[in-house]
Amino acid sequence: MTSLPPDLDPQKIPQHVAVIMDGNGRWATSRGLPRIAGHRQGARTLKELLRCCKNWGIKALTAYAFSTENWQRPIEEVDFLMLLFERMLRRELAQMHQEGVRISLIGDLSALPSSLQTEMEHSMTETLNNQAIHFTVAVNYGSRKEITTACRQIAQLVQQGKLSPEAINESLVEKHLYTADTPAPDLMIRTSAEMRLSNFLLWQMAYTEMYFTDILWPDFDADAFHQALLSYQKRDRRFGQVKTFFSA
Ligand code: IPE
Ligand code: IPE
Ligand code: MG
Repeated sequence: MTSLPPDLDPQKIPQHVAVIMDGNGRWATSRGLPRIAGHRQGARTLKELLRCCKNWGIKALTAYAFSTENWQRPIEEVDFLMLLFERMLRRELAQMHQEGVRISLIGDLSALPSSLQTEMEHSMTETLNNQAIHFTVAVNYGSRKEITTACRQIAQLVQQGKLSPEAINESLVEKHLYTADTPAPDLMIRTSAEMRLSNFLLWQMAYTEMYFTDILWPDFDADAFHQALLSYQKRDRRFGQVKTFFSA
């Protein structure tokens, strides 16, 4: 689908969508395939979703690709995922750059294979000034680690006498997160019937609308995304207030 479906209100399109891409393994297993086949298909799904977001006027998409806990999976699966990330970046970069996609990678990237880190750095610098859509992929990402790292950085500034404890406020904390200077997600979608955050953007999603679907990630297509947006557009985002957000 290239243009916005007519039953969606262009005024109420979320600016930033976050996705927890879950269910790749079950998708593959249910077809008698190895789990990695699910990851391969899942990467295609992400590519399609990015295009869909761009076509429908969504300004940012953040995808959870690998958590700090995912290292506990079988080594073959972890290795495959690292290779897949690297291959995807290498293969898709030129096209994404041409389409105006700005790529960011968030997480503790320093623990990733060095060839992958190089590819990531290259993708980020190359696309830094692109404006069409901001595409962020979370790899070796964990919210608790992110917040802990921010605390440590702030503590160091205080210790060095560069910051007084009274000057620590929410916006300062935010500046020390991986997502500094990016607005919080408006809508979070998790596939595969799991209803939890699994350590994803805990700080950032304080007021994000949540959408859970039974669909497994590799099957999450434009129609499924359309359904998620319809649900989002029916929500009343109050942010703790009484007035409705959308009718203001
Ligand atoms: C999500 O799919 C992808 C990653 C976590 C890397 P899973 O691999 O978690 O798939 P299930 O949940 O086992 O089906
Ligand atoms: C969350 O999925 C992480 C990613 C999608 C990258 P998991 O499959 O790892 O989460 P749990 O283990 O079901 O909570
Ligand atoms: Mg899973």
